[in-house]
Amino acid sequence: MSIKVGVVFGGETVEHEVSIISAVQAMNKLNLEKYDIIPIYITKDREWYTGDMLKDIEIYKDMSLIKKYGKNVVLYYKDGNYVLQNKNFPKTVVSDVDIIFPIVHGTNGEDGTLQGYLQMIGIPYVGSNVYSSVVGQDKVYMKDIWAEAGLSMTKYVWFYDVDYKKDSDKIVKDVSKLKYPVIVKPATTGSSVGISVVEKEEKLIEAIDDAIQYDRKILVEEVVENLQEVNIAVMGNYEHQKVSEIEEVISTNKFLTYADKYISGGKGKLKGKQQRINSKGMASANRKLPADLPEKLHKEVEEMAIKAFKVLGSSGNSRIDFLIDSKKNKVYINEINSIPGSLAFYLWEEKGINYTSLLEDMINIGIKDYKKRLSKTSSFESNILKNFTANGGLKGAKGKLR
Ligand SMILES: Nc1ncnc2c1ncn2[C@@H]1O[C@H](COP(=O)(O)OP(=O)(O)OP(=O)(O)O)[C@@H](O)[C@H]1O
Ligand SMILES: [Mg+2]
Repeated sequence: MSIKVGVVFGGETVEHEVSIISAVQAMNKLNLEKYDIIPIYITKDREWYTGDMLKDIEIYKDMSLIKKYGKNVVLYYKDGNYVLQNKNFPKTVVSDVDIIFPIVHGTNGEDGTLQGYLQMIGIPYVGSNVYSSVVGQDKVYMKDIWAEAGLSMTKYVWFYDVDYKKDSDKIVKDVSKLKYPVIVKPATTGSSVGISVVEKEEKLIEAIDDAIQYDRKILVEEVVENLQEVNIAVMGNYEHQKVSEIEEVISTNKFLTYADKYISGGKGKLKGKQQRINSKGMASANRKLPADLPEKLHKEVEEMAIKAFKVLGSSGNSRIDFLIDSKKNKVYINEINSIPGSLAFYLWEEKGINYTSLLEDMINIGIKDYKKRLSKTSSFESNILKNFTANGGLKGAKGKLR
């Protein structure tokens, strides 16, 4: 019997379109002998749709077609099954689902929100759990944890927008502990949105003013000179991990922008009406695969990636990005992407794992995680409140509960 895999994608995020590309790619690669694919598309206004036509990229050119022919559904637990049920009357079941495969990027999806929702419903799902997803989206949380684990990274400071508004001089002073140039980043938005490099202190305020439009929490860190950027994927969970090939990402700009990553032709064409999302998403950024790295650094990146993945308790298949000072041969960890663009399939191909078996491995890890979760006690049969009386508290249990 086939496993019914609900592929969830889209959602309210700046990476909405990228998620559609990643998900459609994946749905075309899932093994149909083993899996029934149930596309679950979340619109930018948070409506959930299902329907076979959502497997075809063409449909996304006209949202009205989705609203007309797709089924507007909710995910639900009903009579012992996980089901997609019509949201509107008549509230009939459209499909069963055995496991959810989230292929969402960024906020409201990759960041623990979707995982929390799925966990509340109780359905098995692929990838990192709530805790690792949250930390994987917040650049400050992830850095604090990695610093504690002894991973090498650039020096950084962070602050809230409210504290900056109250006393910007103090923030400027805090940042002066770092060596300029620095880079200013909103802590939780992805895709380089709101990020800028600041060469000297006079320009800092301008960069922060831009970044706080996107986030309450701002990170400022030292810029890595002689930059070489490399990425590696790690697959597994807290028990086992394995690493992919390492890629080197080559950018035409000072740093990788949204346009570099996803839009053909780079920055200049961003404003044009014909801006075209690159059909391969991250898979086709300018890259060298494998990266041009000395053996020692190659090893270092692999070891750091495994440690970073494990300490966050990540699961599934994450891409971990590194910044290297190629003159000093110094490696800094930059960030983790719990659900990377194109699921970083191209990094696994180099290791002889094709996209179809990558997806299967990820689903199997999701099933293992679910079983593990079930095996841990998370509630008790007994109800200590049954002896509770409004006036006397717990009869006979007084004192014990302190
Ligand atoms: N400390 C740094 N020194 C030099 N360049 C940096 C540094 N931090 C980031 N960059 C450049 O900026 C780019 C974007 O930064 P980063 O990867 O941290 O955020 P992001 O791309 O918004 O996150 P996501 O990858 O989740 O979309 C990097 O790919 C890199 O080119
Ligand atoms: Mg990045």
